[in-house]
Amino acid sequence: MAEHPDGAELYDCRLADADRGDAAFYRDLAAAADGPTLELACGTGRIHLELLDAGVDADGIDLDTDRLDRLRAKAAARGLDASVWRADMLDFEADRAYDLAICPFNTVQHAASVADQRRLFETVHDALAPGGQFVFDTFVPSFDVVCESYGEWETRELEYDGRTYTHRSRSRVVDLVEQQFEVENATEPPDGEVVHESTYRLSMLPKQQVQLLARDSPFDSWRVEGGFDGGELSDEGAVQVWTLEKST
Ligand SMILES: C[S@@+](CC[C@H](N)C(=O)[O-])C[C@H]1O[C@@H](n2cnc3c(N)ncnc32)[C@H](O)[C@@H]1O
Repeated sequence: MAEHPDGAELYDCRLADADRGDAAFYRDLAAAADGPTLELACGTGRIHLELLDAGVDADGIDLDTDRLDRLRAKAAARGLDASVWRADMLDFEADRAYDLAICPFNTVQHAASVADQRRLFETVHDALAPGGQFVFDTFVPSFDVVCESYGEWETRELEYDGRTYTHRSRSRVVDLVEQQFEVENATEPPDGEVVHESTYRLSMLPKQQVQLLARDSPFDSWRVEGGFDGGELSDEGAVQVWTLEKST
């Protein structure tokens, strides 16, 4: 019997049919940048491989070494060489200055306290060349979504290597005062015990908080759009796309 997938393989399985419309957005942005791009929290390469495929001069960092190994293997299978390494996006040093830093898929929300959010913005600012941009997306906190689905387990089936796994996930508010929530994931085969579990804490980041963080940061200017098509952020929007610019 084949071994069970590890966390990085399961992560890829879960995202296999995720089409957020963000990959083409970040790829085009990076392809148009004047110099190198750094992807913060590149994971298993959902976006990063698009950058490399497009010939972008890109580096990536992530905390999870299994995900980085998987990204490298996927790049190698395409005949590409991935320049990615383990680092904390809140506190890293880079060997070169980037024209663009990106942090896709709500990952800035992993900086769960104001102190961490300020540290992230300062660290990214330091890694950018003059005139460089920091672009990231976060979700619009929705009272409807919190009321309707937080606290409930959602279940779906994942296919891996001819076997069907059950994946459960749940988001729940764990600190109302600090507006923090936790996401729990657990995956199990039909006939056995949980093969992988994870829990992580994120922060709600409404527009006004990001605005204040940007104002408090060393960035020169900033703007927000409502989604990856460049429209205005409105009540209908679920995604905030932020661009912070470093002075030239
Ligand atoms: C939602 S995934 C996004 C992965 C990828 N950017 C994408 O869009 O598919 C979040 C990633 O952030 C990483 N991560 C969380 N906190 C981090 C930190 N402080 N520094 C670096 N990576 C971090 C996790 O390991 C995970 O791979």
